[in-house]
This record gives sequence, C-alpha cells and structure tokens, in this order.
Amino acid sequence: MTDLKSRLTTVVSDAFAQAGLPAELGRVTASDRPDLADFQCNGALAAAKAAKANPRALAEEIVAILKPDPMFAAVELAGPGFINLVLSDATLSLRANAIAEDPRLGAGLEPAPRRVVVDYGGPNVAKPMHVGHLRASIIGESLKRLFRFRGDEVWGDAHFGDWGFQMGLLIVAVGDEQPDLDFLADGDGPFPSESPVSLADLERLYPLAAARAKTDLEYRDRARKATAELQGGRPGYRALWRCFVEVSRTALEREFSALDIEFDLWNGESDADPLIAGMVAELEAKGLLELDQGARIVRVAKDGDKRELPPLLVVSSEGSAMYGTTDLATIVDRRNRFDPELILYVVDQRQADHFEQVFRAARLAGYAAEDGLEHIGFGTMNGPDGKPFKTREGGVLKLHDLIEMAKDKARERLKDAGLGAELTEQDFEDTAHKVAVAALKFADLGNFRGTSYVFDLDRFMSFEGKTGPYLLYQAVRIKSLLRKADVEGHAAGEVVVVEPAERDLTLALDAYEAALAEAYARRAPNLIAEHAYRLAQTFSKFYAACPILVAADAKSRASRLRLAKVTLDQLDSALRLLGIETPERM
Ligand code: ARG
Repeated sequence: MTDLKSRLTTVVSDAFAQAGLPAELGRVTASDRPDLADFQCNGALAAAKAAKANPRALAEEIVAILKPDPMFAAVELAGPGFINLVLSDATLSLRANAIAEDPRLGAGLEPAPRRVVVDYGGPNVAKPMHVGHLRASIIGESLKRLFRFRGDEVWGDAHFGDWGFQMGLLIVAVGDEQPDLDFLADGDGPFPSESPVSLADLERLYPLAAARAKTDLEYRDRARKATAELQGGRPGYRALWRCFVEVSRTALEREFSALDIEFDLWNGESDADPLIAGMVAELEAKGLLELDQGARIVRVAKDGDKRELPPLLVVSSEGSAMYGTTDLATIVDRRNRFDPELILYVVDQRQADHFEQVFRAARLAGYAAEDGLEHIGFGTMNGPDGKPFKTREGGVLKLHDLIEMAKDKARERLKDAGLGAELTEQDFEDTAHKVAVAALKFADLGNFRGTSYVFDLDRFMSFEGKTGPYLLYQAVRIKSLLRKADVEGHAAGEVVVVEPAERDLTLALDAYEAALAEAYARRAPNLIAEHAYRLAQTFSKFYAACPILVAADAKSRASRLRLAKVTLDQLDSALRLLGIETPERM
C-alpha cells in the first residue's frame, strides 16, 4: 500500500520525464502552506538551474501535463516555480477507505527484512538502575517494536550486567559479612539451595564495597582476585554468584514488566564467557593482541582520529575479562546464534567511546560488517539542577520508586480533572498505571533521543499539550464515542471526504507511513510520537468541526464514524510502538 506522497512522487516524476527533465526531480513533499495546497514539488527550480532555463516556464510545462489527471482538484504554479498540488475529494476518500481497510493502517514494510538484535536496558546485578537504564529501556523497547513492525526479525536482549568487577566486590563483601558460608572458603559443596543474601542485602553491600575499594587497595585486590576466580570457575563463587543473579533478575523483571518492557532474551555478560578463551586465541592468531603491562589489548586508534581512542582491554593483568571483552565475545555469540545483519546498542551517549572501541575491534577481527554495529546513544534525564536525575536524598533513582511516584501523581491528576469517578477501583488503578507509564514514556520519546531533558512530573502528567496523558485522553474519548454509536445502533460505513477537516484528517492518517519510515531510518521514535500528537490534534479539530453522532445524514455519520475508528486504531498502533497502552475508560 502506497502513501499519497510516494504515489504523487511517481506521478510527478513521470511528468518530469515526459517533459524531458530528470525524473528524480519530481520528488513531492507535504506542502509548506497547507492553506494553499496538500503537497508540493520544487523540482522545476533545480531543473531550470541545470538547464539554464526559466523555472516558471518549466514548471508551467509540468503543470500542463499534470492538470488533466482526475486525482487532482488543482495543480498550480506558485512563486518562482513551485508546483502546488491539491488532491480531489475522491482521491482522499479512496485513500481514507484504503487505510481503514488495511490491517497495517497505512503503514508499509521495509523492502528487505533483516535479522536485528536490539541490546537495551542493560541493568546490572545488585547495582540499582539509574536514569540511563530507564532511558535505554524506553527507547530500546520502542525501537524493537518499530523494527519488528517494519518486518525485521528482532531479538531484544537485556544484556544483563552479571560478570564484571562488581561480582568480585559482592563476593568479598558477602564473605566478610557471613564468615560461616563454608562453601565459599573451601569451594566444595553442598551449595545453598536458597540464596544466603536478599536483594536488599546486595543493594546495601554494593555501594559500601564499591566505595571501600576506591581507597582500600588490599580490599580492591581481594575483589579483583575474586572476580578472576569466579570467572575461572571456582565452584563456591559460582554458586554464590548464581544466587546474586537470581535475586536481582527476579526483582528487575518485575520492574520492567510494570513498564511494559519485555526482553526476548535475558542474556548476561556471563553468557559470553564460554566463548572468551577461543576468542582470545583467535585474536592472538590474527595478530591483533598486544601485551601491555601484563594486560592484553587490541589497539583500535586510527590515523585521522580527532581524539586518541584508547586500546580495548581484552584480558586484565589478573587474567579477567573486562566490560569490552564480554561485549566482543557477545558479538561472536550473537553471530553464532542469530547471524544478525545489525546489532543496535541502545546505551547512554557517555559510553560512546566504549562502543567505538568494541566495534573497531570486532571489525578488525572480522566479527561484524562495517555497518553491522550501531551505538544508539542518548542524552540524560536531568534533575532541576541540570545534572542526571537523582532522588531527593541524592541517591540514584529506583525504577520502582519512579513508577510509584508517577502513579501517585496520575491518581491525583485524574481526580483533579474529574476523571475516573465512574470506574471501579481496579479499573481506576489500571487507568492510573497506564497514565503514569504513558507520561514517563512520552516525555522521554517526545524529544530526539540525543537531547537531554528535565524530569518534571507535573508537566509530563498534564492532560494538555504534548504529553502521554493528553494522547490517552484523546484515544479514550474516541473509544467512548464509538461505544455510544454502538449503543445507538450506528454503524461505520464508506468514507466520503467533503469537509476541510475531513481532508486534513485523511492527510494526517496518510502521513503515518512516512513518519514510520523516517523513524526507522533515523532510529528516532520521537517521529512516531510527533505523528501521534499531530493525529490527535487533527482529530480534535475534526471532531469540533464535523458532528458525528448528530451528523446531518446517515451517510456522513457512517463516514465520520469510520474516520473516528481508523484514527483510534492508528493512534493505538503508534502508541503501541512507543510502548504505551491506552485504557478503555478514564
Ligand atoms: N550494564 C551496562 C551499564 O550499566 C550497560 C550494558 C549496555 N550494553 C552493552 N552491550 N554493553 O552501563
């Protein structure tokens, strides 16, 4: 199914060719002046420049070719040589009906589906999640859904941080606190069937241990040694480590699911461990490894780099795998298991250098194609002080607390707005939850991901303006209208576009495909958010201008009902791609 813009580009390109001009100049865009035209083509200006001809004369020729085509209500020359296109009501009616009948609601597919891994979320064992993880989760989930919707085969992987130095730190800290854990000391079983530590223990111990290792070098060395021994396979350490992973993962999964974030794979850094020895041997054989003060590194700096990129540390002097090591081995693992054409790493922009190191090493080793690895960086969510958001106590925020905070605010706002009064308590809670999630996600996805933004729950939660709650409210309003139509026995029917507001709504619906294609190409969910907002606003105007249930005649009522229904469906579809669900009622 082709959107109007692409179809018009074909028609106008043919006209250019017919006039003996380069067809590729026939590109059509949405009109800069929606009051004058629906679409425009500026190609005559470029054509005239190349041919040293008069642009208005060339445009006039194209206009003459296009004019007889019944798809247009008007084709006009404007300004220095622009061609303005106004579609006929019949063309728009056809398109509106086609979108309404299309299960994909007017959205297309990418020409060549690919296998794609989206690496996002990136929570760590025991370390509390911070805003970087929140953003990674929200953006990554949306990209995963978008890529899948465009036809790719996609695996979303949490890439759980379960293998680094923090594991050694925790082993030492737990061992010091619980000296009676015999299996830790002697390395023999029996191993505990239940975890000797809770998540609360880990969250309490980790910051203490991390802080102590900064100043107490003996402590730090014990933790480093424990990390190396864990990785080396010491059974007691592995047993305790499995407990750490287990308790953390259970808690994290609950938090992610509250945000409607679902990973297909919960692989961890540790899953790449069995591949590391072979990978190191291979890097060695390829002559890529260098010995540097007892450590083994891959040099990745290139001539012409603006800044010197440090080498990738593959094996530390204690013999342990580092963050970059597991990332490199994970590429090998993913290649073996999924053979992806593309891996997207949705991770804080501050890790850009890390990924550049890993990607360069992977290309040198022949593990990935030049364009097979992409870091999808993003800015931070900041507090009012302009620094990455922290809780009032100054600690990093916990996802759970954030969601609770947002839900409290949602309940309050719903009540203030006089909403939800007729809902059962459970429906009210469900709506509050959806409003909270929509507010957080839309605030994040409403800006281009590279932009940092300020955490402002009051603004995020407003029912007015470019917010999640506004969009949910619009969707719910349509749902309730459709329910009412149902009760009154009115069915939707063929769309017949007549009024300007109906034309505008059809054009807004038609723009879905272009928005998604662009969002996909630029890995930019904000373009989906933009589309959803525009669609909701256009619908609002349509609703104000065109009576639906009390339309003058049955035919236009049926037509408007169908427009309302397809708007709701497309809004729902766009919001789902952002990871946002709409409630039934408010
Ligand atoms: N666990 C990491 C962190 O907290 C993020 C992981 C990102 N993904 C990756 N493949 N390195 O910073």
